[in-house]
Amino acid sequence: MSALLEVKDLYKRFLLGDNEVEILKDISLTINRGEFVAIIGQSGSGKTTLMNILGCLDTPSSGTYKIDEKSTADMDSDDLARLRREHFGFIFQRYHLLNDLDALGNVEIPSIYANYPKSGRKERAMALLSRLGLEDRLHNRPNQLSGGQQQRVSIARALINGGEVIFADEPTGALDSKSGNEVMDIIKELHESGHTIVLVTHEASIAAMADRIIEIKDGEIIADNTTKSNEIVNRLQKSTSLQLNPISAMIERFKEAFSMAIKAMFHHKLRTFLTMLGIIIGIASVVSVVALGEGSKQKILKDISNMGTNTINIYRGYGFGDTRSSKVRTLKVSDMYALSDLPFVDSVTPIVNDTANVSFENKSVTAQVKGVGEQFFQVKGIELDEGALLDFSMIKGYTQDAVIDPNAKKELFGNGVNPIGKIIIVDNIPIRIVGVSKKLSSMIGGDDTVNIWIPYTTVMGKMLGRSYLTSVTVRLKDDVDSTASEEAISKVLETRHGIKDFYLANLDSVRQTIESTTGTMRLLISMIAAISLIVGGIGVMNIMLVSVTERTSEIGVRMAVGARESDIMQQFLIESVLVCIIGGVLGISLALLIGEIFGQMSSMFSMVFSSASIIFAFACSTAIGIIFGFVPAKNAAKLNPVVALNKE
Ligand SMILES: Nc1ncnc2c1ncn2[C@@H]1O[C@H](COP(=O)(O)OP(=O)(O)O)[C@@H](O)[C@H]1O
Ligand SMILES: [Mg+2]
Repeated sequence: MSALLEVKDLYKRFLLGDNEVEILKDISLTINRGEFVAIIGQSGSGKTTLMNILGCLDTPSSGTYKIDEKSTADMDSDDLARLRREHFGFIFQRYHLLNDLDALGNVEIPSIYANYPKSGRKERAMALLSRLGLEDRLHNRPNQLSGGQQQRVSIARALINGGEVIFADEPTGALDSKSGNEVMDIIKELHESGHTIVLVTHEASIAAMADRIIEIKDGEIIADNTTKSNEIVNRLQKSTSLQLNPISAMIERFKEAFSMAIKAMFHHKLRTFLTMLGIIIGIASVVSVVALGEGSKQKILKDISNMGTNTINIYRGYGFGDTRSSKVRTLKVSDMYALSDLPFVDSVTPIVNDTANVSFENKSVTAQVKGVGEQFFQVKGIELDEGALLDFSMIKGYTQDAVIDPNAKKELFGNGVNPIGKIIIVDNIPIRIVGVSKKLSSMIGGDDTVNIWIPYTTVMGKMLGRSYLTSVTVRLKDDVDSTASEEAISKVLETRHGIKDFYLANLDSVRQTIESTTGTMRLLISMIAAISLIVGGIGVMNIMLVSVTERTSEIGVRMAVGARESDIMQQFLIESVLVCIIGGVLGISLALLIGEIFGQMSSMFSMVFSSASIIFAFACSTAIGIIFGFVPAKNAAKLNPVVALNKE
């Protein structure tokens, strides 16, 4: 017989408020392999505290504890977990079974943590439960079992990995005398088959079944009597099934943690959903706002490139929004001709703006009337749909002809009327329609503005009676440098006017402005998105902390049966990551749905989803799960097994 558990000069002190109380004092004892030891004493004498230390659920305040010659002080939490998992088995007064699992599931847990393959561990759990008379209760949950049955399940759990040393703390304390006797019979049998038994009780009749009785009072051993000589030789068969290789074992343990996380989530459906909602809204808003920004940017840039970036607008005045500009009357038709002579100019048009009431028969509408040159349509990239464009003879002849856009056609003629050749009234002057353009891009008033183009000579001479232009638009030849051209144009006009009473606007600079604004917008949106995701993440963290608190006693049970810190951590991290990933996927789906609805409703521009933003959103939600789940999971993993176990 060899010393298996050896305690020397052991003290255990607890802090009670400011006072340190000594619960165990100067305990020294040795328990040999195969012994059946009862620890007896009154309630509060320190029995449970001693047993918890012997079972490596708690640590001594001072003194040494050696197991098989090895000091527990040199072991880390994983070593202690391995001892509990592979060599110890616990039977508690209150059974400490997990309510979410059936009998079989409860018995299996220690063997999952000990890396036994699924088939072997299931067989062994069933064999043990059958041996304990529970063969038809395998799939009952703890609350469907009587106290005696629950205690037998917990005995099977203690034995699944071998259970060389069985620690039983008042195993019959909550049972009626019949079930109590059954449990004690099982414990005696276990002793006879070679298990070392440490039994804690306050009942002398139960202690009497042991071979050795250690009496404890106020934390001190007051008697240690061996009543029967221990003749049991160790006939214990170590569980023979092969342990899995580390990778498969990790996968098995991951599966266990995963299924527990799913169970926990389903247990609190509403709470899980509300937590997820933060992530769903965060991710959905990020993805859709980015898509909206991208969609509008692409739309604008496409419009610009349709119009050509190589046009320059020349406006009268001193700058955009300057109120003095309307008084400037120096931009003339002759300026336009001077510009058309420049070698880099492809085409040029004067523009005279007017807003006028336009009517046809009984229909009347307010329209943007522009007096333009014959090159206007080429300069602006406007294409003809029906009829003809304005030509130079019309300009020269001050003719009352017009080209209209589809908006004007719709407003004035409706469907099914051919507008070509019809006479409309613009500011009391009859105008004949010669052509209809294709739909304009929104950049140049295609949304719902009604556009009518009339020779500028007609507008200036017959309608407005004025001699100056609103603006001149120049289209540059391909491949000429727009900056140099702008400078040249400025110089020509400045020479002609004597002062700079005009300003230029280049679409290329508009494009650059748009790109830089969308860049700024994106930064702003990203920051708002980040804030909303952080808020969502805090929600996740909050709920995970609640979840850990609620399941503290479950954590205690898992630790008692040998879960590593990493197993506990994994279980809670999986839960938070799952919440976030599912929230992320729902958020992305919601954004796509919004995009679809938006696309149906607005024809002008749509949301453009890039796969990069979706992948980013997905990665983000995973990261939130890990980051905000980490602290709660770490808290759970760092719990003291005894404290966790006794939490109600
Ligand atoms: N974590 C703790 N903190 C403070 N006091 C404790 C703690 N655990 C146990 N005690 C105290 O230690 C004493 C012995 O407790 P325990 O070992 O459970 O006794 P027994 O199992 O013999 O009834 C009791 O007075 C109890 O209040
Ligand atoms: Mg106790």
